[in-house]
Amino acid sequence: MNLLLYGAPGSGKGTQANMLRSHFGIPHIATGDMLRAEIAAGTPLGRQAQPILAAGKYVSDDIMIEVVRGRLGRPDCEPGFIMDGFPRTVPQAVALDGLMADLGKRFDRVIYLEVPVDELLHRLSGRLVCPQCQRTYPPQTSACEADGSELAQREDDKPEAVRPRIEIYLEKTVPVLDHYRGGGLVSEIDGRGTIEDISRQVLAAANGKVRA
Ligand code: AP5
Ligand code: MG
Repeated sequence: MNLLLYGAPGSGKGTQANMLRSHFGIPHIATGDMLRAEIAAGTPLGRQAQPILAAGKYVSDDIMIEVVRGRLGRPDCEPGFIMDGFPRTVPQAVALDGLMADLGKRFDRVIYLEVPVDELLHRLSGRLVCPQCQRTYPPQTSACEADGSELAQREDDKPEAVRPRIEIYLEKTVPVLDHYRGGGLVSEIDGRGTIEDISRQVLAAANGKVRA
């Protein structure tokens, strides 16, 4: 099963992707997590990406398309995957169509988590993240459930980066949804409510494979 999670920063893509990964046993491909791993490892890509992420801007389409091309070609994607954070621009969406066609794959469902901007701002300002495995948690969580690590604030959740992230999403990423709407693959889910409640709806959308 190939799933695409779409939504604004803080809409719950990472949270729901973790659930889907456990449920279906397929990899979670999160371009933001991949970039943060490059930054932590101090690679040339990481050094280039670090100030861009910290400012809440987007890494260039060319770089991101190559990152995703390399990842999708790996054998663990064969049974399916959950894509999170890509495509974020219309050129990325067009490139992903080509990559998927080359690999003989198609998306079964695009799941859109819709959350209003005031709620996004609230969630991002309090979010905690595991520096080891990148799982995200609500405020006041004491340690990572998966590996017990102490949680931290993500650099781009500082107030000066949160607004630019929402603004660039509205400008560059909102048009990506129209790219998929035509295919009848989009399930729109109200992303407000408990995490468990949203998970039930996300699973129903993934399993139903009904055309919206
Ligand atoms: P990325 O890591 O993808 O960040 P993002 O899109 O900004 O999304 P987030 O990870 O912030 O939010 P999320 O939707 O995963 O929410 P979460 O589940 O954590 O990208 C980071 C950066 O990398 C980009 O800004 C860009 O610079 C670069 N980048 C990445 N991909 C790129 C690309 N393709 N092109 C160019 N640049 C790229 O949840 C948020 C919080 O809410 C958590 O605390 C969570 O516990 C809580 N929460 C979740 N669900 C609920 C709920 N139902 N109710 C209450 N709280 C909830
Ligand atoms: Mg995320």
